[in-house]
Amino acid sequence: MSRARAVAGANIALAKYWGKLDIALNIPAVPSISLTLDKLTTTTTIEFHSGRADSVTLNGKRATGSGRTRVIELLDRVREQAGLDAVATVVSDNNFPTAAGLASSASGFAALAGAALSAGGLQTSQVAISRLARQSSASAARSVFPGFAELPTGRAGDGRLAAKPLFPARHWDVALVIALTDKGPKKVGSTEGMERSRKTSPLYAPWLQKAPALAKKVRDGLRDRDLAKLGVAMEQSTVMFHACAMTSVPSVYYWQPATIAALKTIQKLREKGTEVYATMDAGPHLKALCRRKDAPSVKRALQRLPGVHSTLVARPGPGIKIQKKF
Ligand code: DP6
Repeated sequence: MSRARAVAGANIALAKYWGKLDIALNIPAVPSISLTLDKLTTTTTIEFHSGRADSVTLNGKRATGSGRTRVIELLDRVREQAGLDAVATVVSDNNFPTAAGLASSASGFAALAGAALSAGGLQTSQVAISRLARQSSASAARSVFPGFAELPTGRAGDGRLAAKPLFPARHWDVALVIALTDKGPKKVGSTEGMERSRKTSPLYAPWLQKAPALAKKVRDGLRDRDLAKLGVAMEQSTVMFHACAMTSVPSVYYWQPATIAALKTIQKLREKGTEVYATMDAGPHLKALCRRKDAPSVKRALQRLPGVHSTLVARPGPGIKIQKKF
């Protein structure tokens, strides 16, 4: 009946989102700022047609369980908005190894939202895509935009919240060196980890209080292309949210020994004069932000560590791309 394809890049938060204000509407409790990446992308094709059931294939495998449910929830929102009585065939592929546990929900839900709105004949403005993606996974709201984007804190009950662009990809000649420190998928997903933090961590309230000031430092550092200012705030934002996870009951430890080894390497590189700063998401991999010219030496230093099994370098990338004809 109608089909569309969308390609979206993964993004990495420079100021972290951790915690929800409104669980039903998936509204973040803190502002977050991100860098959309050029290298790690998800391509999703959706076709709406007559039939009996939705078919969802993620990275060559039929989706089951909560992975499938989250996709169908998004499709249902689109069907409701469009007044569409059709089933969907969804095929989604990452160009990066998902088995390595690299974040895929951000690029995945951004591409899904873009393709679904387009195939459903609905408005595909960046804001409309971002709003829909945010309901499935808040970090996905940021992947719609190129370069640097922000997802502000919402208000409880405000289902219209979307991310907004801050600066285009060409704003800053930075690179992100990703060091993969583990092969398996993470055991506690971010949704569960942040909920556990909210309910049980004594550090959650201080985190909520401090996060807006850290986001401001990241935003100002980004505006002024001041890597030290941004980097110090990014590291504190990272360590504070991990501290919330670690002090939850039961504790959530996303770091592996190789994560700490990589963190120490970043500190040493800094002591020797390279401007490089680290961040980790809800997983063990380390992502190092530096100037483009320093990326090869940062990559070499991380690759040498025994627990690091591979490294890759990404740069600021484009926003979502939608195709109707293919
Ligand atoms: C640590 O966007 O995956 O990567 O909204 O529950 O799907 P849900 O959470 P998700 O959380 C991402 C958390 C993070 C930090 C970040 O990307 O800002």
